[in-house]
Amino acid sequence: MSTTDGRLAVVVLVSGSGSNLQALIDAAASPASRFCITGVISNRPGALGLQRAVAAGIPTRVVDHTLFPDRHSFDAALAEAIDGFSPGLVVLAGFMRILTSDFVGRYAGRMLNIHPSLLPEFQGLHTHRRALEAGVREHGASVHFVTDELDGGPVIAQVRVAVKTGDDEASLAGRVLSREHELLPQVVDWFASDRVALRDGRAWLDGKALQEPVECCA
Ligand code: GRF
Repeated sequence: MSTTDGRLAVVVLVSGSGSNLQALIDAAASPASRFCITGVISNRPGALGLQRAVAAGIPTRVVDHTLFPDRHSFDAALAEAIDGFSPGLVVLAGFMRILTSDFVGRYAGRMLNIHPSLLPEFQGLHTHRRALEAGVREHGASVHFVTDELDGGPVIAQVRVAVKTGDDEASLAGRVLSREHELLPQVVDWFASDRVALRDGRAWLDGKALQEPVECCA
């Protein structure tokens, strides 16, 4: 859905620092931006991302997962909070909860996640550590549509980062994260411009099914 000025309404879900949220806030502040963040929701009351939203004048909600007896009741409350902001797109930006199939289905084709690896490599947690252990020369991050398979939905775009001799988990994570801040606003902008879609289980860009993820950001 759109805001009154015709921009796409986006809700961002965070669990922690929210540096990717900040990148979206900064991008949305540009007069040329085609999207607007109408709400930020966190499952953690103390998430720094909530403070970033407040500082930017964006309404926030907390849906604390520890207060719910099971995933279904948490996801139902989360969906209610999201729908209260009437978004056309939901972005998981460091949102560290596994979501139920019903929830994922409700936002099919309009929910994106950013994951810190070159998917399909290193789905799940501790991606930087695992990339170093595997001895890969290239690592990176991916933005994909969210489907039932954890970190397994169709990938839209990626950033590639060279692994350097002497890298440790923190140095590699830092370099990947700074590139994530280019990647995520770019893909959200494409979505807001109707350039990206999920169709027949595949990611499409500019009317063509992607054979492989687009490399960002040339
Ligand atoms: C990022 O690396 C993102 O890819 C992953 O969690 C991290 C969140 O960082 N899903 P931030 O909260 O955006 O700073």
